[in-house]
Amino acid sequence: MSQHTVLAGKRVVLGVTGSIAAYKAATLASRLTQMGALVDVIMTEAATRFVTPLTFQSLTGRAVYASLWENAHGGGGGPDDLGSHIAHVGLAERADLLLLAPATANTIAKIALGLADDLLSVTALAARCPIIMAPAMDAGMYENPVTQAHVETLRVRGVHFAGPVVGRMASGLEGMGRMVEPDEIIGHCRYVLGRNGPLHGRRVVVTAGPTREPLDPVRFISNHSTGKQGFAIAQAAVDAGADVTLISGPVALSAPVGVHRVDVTDADSMRAAVLAHATRGNQADALIMSAAVADFRPLRESDEKIKKAEETKRRRPAPFTLELVQTPDILLEVTQQVARPRVTIGFAAESEDLIENARAKLEQKRLDLIVANDITAEDAGFEADTNRVHFITAEGAEALPLMSKEEVGVRLVEWLVERLAEER
Ligand code: C5P
Repeated sequence: MSQHTVLAGKRVVLGVTGSIAAYKAATLASRLTQMGALVDVIMTEAATRFVTPLTFQSLTGRAVYASLWENAHGGGGGPDDLGSHIAHVGLAERADLLLLAPATANTIAKIALGLADDLLSVTALAARCPIIMAPAMDAGMYENPVTQAHVETLRVRGVHFAGPVVGRMASGLEGMGRMVEPDEIIGHCRYVLGRNGPLHGRRVVVTAGPTREPLDPVRFISNHSTGKQGFAIAQAAVDAGADVTLISGPVALSAPVGVHRVDVTDADSMRAAVLAHATRGNQADALIMSAAVADFRPLRESDEKIKKAEETKRRRPAPFTLELVQTPDILLEVTQQVARPRVTIGFAAESEDLIENARAKLEQKRLDLIVANDITAEDAGFEADTNRVHFITAEGAEALPLMSKEEVGVRLVEWLVERLAEER
């Protein structure tokens, strides 16, 4: 998992309370640690009935705090081992984020009221960092007006809530109160930690995925784009604090937490969405056009399903001719607008003469940067998790080594941060 996210090097205090969803906090602790966060776990007494401190100690490689009165589990007396009596002050002071997952009705109520009778509630009271709560409880408890009032109080005071969602509960019933899944909680952490990043206050529009150009009610022309690269760019922009609109063609991915997602299908609807969200009265700071927009569409869309020809006795199948027309070039139209985005970035997926073709597009479409990739390479381009790209500007070309699509997103956002800073 990537070490290049906003979580790298961040001190996250993970508060685990007594819900069956505590077992999912183990996954959460593991993922956060893999992403480079320093995770200090505080467990309530009830939480230790569901999962042991040793589980978290093993996953985080750090001491686990389970009592206000006893020493940490696995502290070992090292420089990071705060004696428990001062742990609440130390943990609260140095944390970048306090994450309560799962957060029970009881702990939510205590923190809303300022009660402090165990290490976690004491830490929450002393904390100056952002707080995220991922509630997990029975639907009756969550919907009870007293819980709702506590949630509202905390929300008004700036606590960020991740869920809960409607789903299957420990009781076996469906209801509102199920904890959101660890990956989504991590998305909330990235959003909250990134909020004041270098793109704070900047509006970034990212396009992703393929488009589908309909032939008839059941068929379309499309391409192999999965949207992975565009979604990774959107996530990197959220990590940097941008206000992100993600305009996506049909893909099987969930949008990063915090982005405004606009779903489109064909080139025409992508064009309309890009113009509406990035130009005119709604000028974006940056447009990153990573979508693989179809260059051609069927000239006519049939209202009825096109029938195949009657079987004939001829040996060769009857040819079927499809007339195509070019789709509107969205980037070209955007950069011709007076109210164009401050920075416009395009992609060039090429199978031959990569650099020359990309450079020609940079000029023709009047872009600030073009990201070129050779789609014939096996470890890059469509469907792969890695990419091998060149950043091409009017000033020159930089060949980046093979890296994950996530990292390409980070490098692109770093480039954007610098470019926008030059403008000021
Ligand atoms: O001209 P070509 O399709 O190779 O250019 C690729 C770049 O142009 C990509 O950034 C793509 O999103 C964008 N594009 C567009 N409108 C189209 C086709 C591609 O904006 N109709």
